[in-house]
Amino acid sequence: MQWIPEYQGDVERVERFNAVARITHWGHTVTFLLCLFTGLALFLGGVDWLAAIFGGYRGAGLVHRIAAVGMTLMLGFGVVFGFMGVIEWVKDIFRFGINDIKFLMVFPFEFLGFKVKIAPQTRFNGGEKMNSVVTPTMVILLVLSGYIMWFPALFPAGLVRFCYPVHDLAMIFSTVMVCMHGYLGSFHLGSGESFWGMWKGTVRTDWAKHHHAIWYEETYGDKAKSE
Ligand code: HEM
Ligand code: HEM
Repeated sequence: MQWIPEYQGDVERVERFNAVARITHWGHTVTFLLCLFTGLALFLGGVDWLAAIFGGYRGAGLVHRIAAVGMTLMLGFGVVFGFMGVIEWVKDIFRFGINDIKFLMVFPFEFLGFKVKIAPQTRFNGGEKMNSVVTPTMVILLVLSGYIMWFPALFPAGLVRFCYPVHDLAMIFSTVMVCMHGYLGSFHLGSGESFWGMWKGTVRTDWAKHHHAIWYEETYGDKAKSE
């Protein structure tokens, strides 16, 4: 059984993500998941088997803080060294238009594995644009509330108390998003090739033309070549 489509190095490919974007994404993923599993041990309580992986509940609290600092550093790395990439990303999110709405309307069918006709998409499709807004917003809330909970003496007591439900709710929303996102970016039949874009940096040209027709045309198409 094959989970992710085989990487095809012998066909024409185009660059999708540069090294900074890929290092930031995967570094962030590892530290986010560490925060999630250690955080779940603290949140649920009574899950000794989960806490045991991190050396008990105190160990989970320590690994949580170390992973949190790691995640913050990864985000800082991405912003500093990939600043222009972040700007391009934000610009693309705000190019939300009719084709993105059309994408979102057929997305549930595509998610369930049906073959659907996709309206031409920019660099990020309608679903990825939604993910690009919701997930980073939740991560920013996790970071802000997390540091306030970590250093309660520096903040008003009411704010510190407020941060606990904020941290928990942001954890729940981001986890739901990451579950769907992780599946779409790997095992999902139609979009699995995108995994190689984030892992090795390139995707098959035919896949790029089909999934992100506007982005392909603007970046690698005839018009882009003549400019
Ligand atoms: C910079 C990022 C983060 C910081 C500074 C941070 C900090 C903290 C701190 C100080 C606590 C309290 C720990 C204790 O009671 O010993 C905590 C708890 C928790 N964190 Fe984070 N965290 C961060 C990111 C995350 C992420 C990414 C997730 C999950 C996706 C997460 C999920 C949780 C959960 C579920 C709890 C338990 C809350 C509760 O008991 O109600 N945290 N975090
Ligand atoms: C769990 C494993 C994960 C896998 C397999 C995965 C896979 C991917 C892939 C393949 C892309 C590029 C999609 C494209 O071609 O546009 C991507 C983009 C992205 N990833 Fe992940 N990712 C994972 C975890 C995460 C986590 C933990 C976060 C944040 C909490 C995250 C946030 C993003 C964002 C914001 C983008 C850009 C928008 C988008 O494409 O949806 N990813 N990811």
